[in-house]
Amino acid sequence: MTQTSPKALATSLFQKAFASHPAVLASAPGRVNLIGEHMDYNGGPVLPFAIQRRTVVAASLGTAWHAVSAIDGTTQLVDPTGPAAGGWTDYLRGVIRALAHDGLAPRGAQVAVASTVPVGAGLASSAALTVALTRALVHLAGRRVPPERLADIAYRAEHDEVGVACGRMDQTVAALASPGLAMLLETATGEITGVPFPGHVIVVETGVAHELSRGALNQRRHECEEALRMLRERGVEATHLADIAQARLGEVERLLPPPWMSRARHVVTEASRTREAVHALQAHDLVRLGRLLQEGHRSLRDDYQSSCREADWLVDGAVRHGAYGARLTGAGWGGAVIVLANEAAESRIMALVGEEFNREFGRFPEMWKTSAGRGATVEH
Ligand code: GLA
Repeated sequence: MTQTSPKALATSLFQKAFASHPAVLASAPGRVNLIGEHMDYNGGPVLPFAIQRRTVVAASLGTAWHAVSAIDGTTQLVDPTGPAAGGWTDYLRGVIRALAHDGLAPRGAQVAVASTVPVGAGLASSAALTVALTRALVHLAGRRVPPERLADIAYRAEHDEVGVACGRMDQTVAALASPGLAMLLETATGEITGVPFPGHVIVVETGVAHELSRGALNQRRHECEEALRMLRERGVEATHLADIAQARLGEVERLLPPPWMSRARHVVTEASRTREAVHALQAHDLVRLGRLLQEGHRSLRDDYQSSCREADWLVDGAVRHGAYGARLTGAGWGGAVIVLANEAAESRIMALVGEEFNREFGRFPEMWKTSAGRGATVEH
């Protein structure tokens, strides 16, 4: 699908709304997570990469905060000291507040936002937005901060200010990703290792927007915290749920009632799958990687219960027609599936999957390819 570049869109939106040229353009990518789902608030490893779709922020200094997004085209006045408004500008409000906390916020700005990262598709559009906003506003304030700090500010904006119980994966990859590399992030320590990912995946959007996932994500996080607390009370030593070795799974299963048992089983097995996936990638073993994606999806479906019928259908179809593997990516309860397949077979697989999906759900899903792109950047 050809799309107008978000850079051109953000610039023209800015010019229309504020009758001047923006002083800065900054952008940040969405992401897919190859594997390591729901690990980042359980102290486990994640393996995301930045997609080539990006969110662009065009901005200039101002005396108050005015913002416009290509989604609705309406210019809004944002009061960072007032209550949250319940729309996209809450993310801007969150970024301004997180920046102000660090003494990095400009006095005000005019801001225009355009994006090719679909919203509600599990591709971390909110992290692309908060990281791009942070990058642009820090630049306007005339400050320089390392990308780790950008990620931290964006995380605090989303977690502390907007109130989403997310981990740090999305903001970290949006701020620090490098082209051609997947990012192994050990979320317990913050350690990052680049793992070459020269190929691409196909992203298939289920078309089920996951607005509800915020509540559901908060609930899962709470369940994981409870599971860890119960295990500790029963003598299991662990700082994080993902610390528990797979060899102790039987013990964990005996100590926890459902649903905590299955949530913990997902976390423990997913941590081990993610580390194995890194080895598979390093060995260029796409068959093994594909099998791990499959197992990961089953774990999300059955143990974490964060999938949906459309995603299960797409994963089954892709594998039945010959993909190495496929899985739901991101928070879940809708969103997108990633498919890993031999390049020669891709078109056939996707055509068949699309037709079957259409027969079942009465519409063709959006599908597109992406390789590993770069993290946040100032465009000029
Ligand atoms: C959302 C959150 C992330 C992570 C994923 C699940 O994208 O923002 O921090 O928890 O869900 O892996």
